[in-house]
Amino acid sequence: PAEPVVLGIETSCDETGIGIVRGTTLLANAIASSMDEHARYGGVVPEIAARAHLEALTPTIRLALEQAGLGINDIDAIAVTSGPGLSGALMVGVAAAKGLAVSTGKPLYAVNHLVGHVGVDLVTPDSEPLEYPTIALLVSGGHTSLLYVRDLVDDVELLGETIDDAAGEAFDKVARVLGLPYPGGPHIDRVAVGGNPKAIRFPRGLSLPKDMAAHRYDFSFSGLKTAVARWVEARQDRGEDVPIADVAASFREAVADVLLTKALAACADLGVPRLLLGGGVVANARIRELAAIRAERAGITLRIPPFELCTDNGAMIAALGAQLIMRGLPPSTLDFGADSTLPV
Ligand code: KG4
Ligand code: ZN
Repeated sequence: PAEPVVLGIETSCDETGIGIVRGTTLLANAIASSMDEHARYGGVVPEIAARAHLEALTPTIRLALEQAGLGINDIDAIAVTSGPGLSGALMVGVAAAKGLAVSTGKPLYAVNHLVGHVGVDLVTPDSEPLEYPTIALLVSGGHTSLLYVRDLVDDVELLGETIDDAAGEAFDKVARVLGLPYPGGPHIDRVAVGGNPKAIRFPRGLSLPKDMAAHRYDFSFSGLKTAVARWVEARQDRGEDVPIADVAASFREAVADVLLTKALAACADLGVPRLLLGGGVVANARIRELAAIRAERAGITLRIPPFELCTDNGAMIAALGAQLIMRGLPPSTLDFGADSTLPV
């Protein structure tokens, strides 16, 4: 069909995401999360995540079909995240997708999770079609990458990435230092409201002139994370209260600043007046706000997925699956596995 109906399965981390699209139209986006089960361990426990996917998959598929008002026989194809992510978690989704494909006789498409995070733009409601090339900034719990995108489906080039921690990891670790629950991003956002982003000048990794020469499109967040921890510990050692709102706001500002400085440098250097953001960290209120301000100032067209399509979801996987079909590409053969370190 010209507009294939595709069911996407995403299980790379702690969210079981099932999305359904028709061509470039989003029909359903159902999510079950095992986040609460991981919270007391301060991070995602792979074994718990895998078991939770196993339990959540069938009900979440049902929920997505219900949201779309469709039955399983109305689906033209299935798409699944094959990597990168947690091995065991990925395997549950891949196995389920293969089972569904074999039992229904529908074709199956393997999709890259990272490309999914930016490819979700394809099904973002009410948006004009994306123009190429575009610079894309992918910021998630496991990745912080700057991409040159000539085509979201098959021509994505890595310009640079983090040389240590991902930005999401820094959010999660700083949250822990501040005594906030896992995952840290949304909590930092919440407590930063009312804080002064200029209260503390935290380091902007790899953004000094000499670093911009050697690591122009690379990121580093481990120094920032350590700087925040030291600052907080020094306060505590002196028996002083920690101004949590100011620390959170200043930390968030440092991350937003360095992300956008580098993304806009890439746009300027490469003469690309378009920037696309994606990934869980892009749910951050200040990153969204600063991106809008800086892009406007630089005359750059900015695209940010709606909040609920930034964090892990099945809609982004279905979106890319539909593109593969519309381009006439053959389905994946059923011998593909889960690749925990799959690059973009
Ligand atoms: O893309 P994602 O859902 O999963 C991965 O592929 O990693 O990203 C998860 C990351 C976590 O580190 C989480 O703390 C962060 O995204 N995150 C946020 C926000 N919401 C989620 N970081 C900053 N601000 C937020 N509002
Ligand atoms: Zn993700």
